[in-house]
Amino acid sequence: MDPYTAPFCESYLFGDKVFSVIEVERLVKDFGRFRAVDDVSFEVEKGEIFGILGPNGAGKTTIIMILATLLKPTKGRAFVAGHDVVKEASKVRKKIGVVFQETTLDLELTARENLDFHARLYGMKGKEKERRISEVLELVELNEKADVVVKKFSGGMKRRLEIARGLIHFPEVLLLDEPTLGLDAITRRKIWDYIMKARKETTIVLNTNYIEEAEKLCDRVAIMNRGRIIAIDDPKNLVDLAESVIVLEGTGFDRMMDVVERYRYSISGNALRIYTKNGSEILPEIISSAVRKGVEIKSARIERPTLEDVFVQMAKK
Ligand SMILES: Nc1ncnc2c1ncn2[C@@H]1O[C@H](COP(=O)(O)OP(=O)(O)OP(=O)(O)O)[C@@H](O)[C@H]1O
Ligand SMILES: [Mg+2]
Repeated sequence: MDPYTAPFCESYLFGDKVFSVIEVERLVKDFGRFRAVDDVSFEVEKGEIFGILGPNGAGKTTIIMILATLLKPTKGRAFVAGHDVVKEASKVRKKIGVVFQETTLDLELTARENLDFHARLYGMKGKEKERRISEVLELVELNEKADVVVKKFSGGMKRRLEIARGLIHFPEVLLLDEPTLGLDAITRRKIWDYIMKARKETTIVLNTNYIEEAEKLCDRVAIMNRGRIIAIDDPKNLVDLAESVIVLEGTGFDRMMDVVERYRYSISGNALRIYTKNGSEILPEIISSAVRKGVEIKSARIERPTLEDVFVQMAKK
């Protein structure tokens, strides 16, 4: 079978309800008195790469663990491939591949043996199993290392093998918890390539705290902070939501504070920074007022926000 055209259902119809591949409804997870996930809802459509972006402790892993049926929600519901993660946990487990934040490979086995063990768990056997093992090894470019014991692998190679293992049984959903955490920039890009290849055969939910990773890979991103989703959108739209920054370099800004104070601003050294959504419309007014008031301006520019700015601005709210 072509590894990139694995079978998976078009939609999930139960009774008269059509499910998205993943549906999360008002999910809450408490650890004792601490609320780690607070009223989180989202849906993921077939074929999407959906990112959950947030700082340490935001609740990303907790959500993945609930989707993977390894933690029970305190309140709310979640469905994966049409199945309830609590009431139909074993059905959900058959439909998902998971790559955890910490490695779960058997270090004493070779790459091939790790994959073989996993494939057997999912009832694969014979030629079909062998073929699939070669396919996933090829996808992450580990064929040549197939018979090397995993304890000799670098961190990047282990991650690649884990992605291969997550895909082995043609899961409908692949859950990736910080797939490039701690890897160097080049290895990270390689992993991104493998994830882009994997998306041809499965829907992906990916946790990350790397903004660049969310921008590069994800069709939609949920920005999480302290257990809550503070925004969900296409990463490009999220960037448009953020304020751009007008940066003026010069001296004598105190003479034009009446204008500057209409906006959010900061001054450090010779630079005045004004934060606003419509920077290019406001810039001429700012400059002409500076000229009128005898402020000496050496340079002026508008910085377009990055997803990082969006994140910082939203997390403050
Ligand atoms: N088993 C647990 N018992 C108590 N508190 C927990 C448990 N698991 C997670 N937490 C807390 O819940 C919060 C969310 O944790 P979670 O691991 O989901 O965050 P995360 O977004 O994955 O962070 P990171 O980027 O560091 O992996 C944290 O404050 C964490 O300390
Ligand atoms: Mg985590």
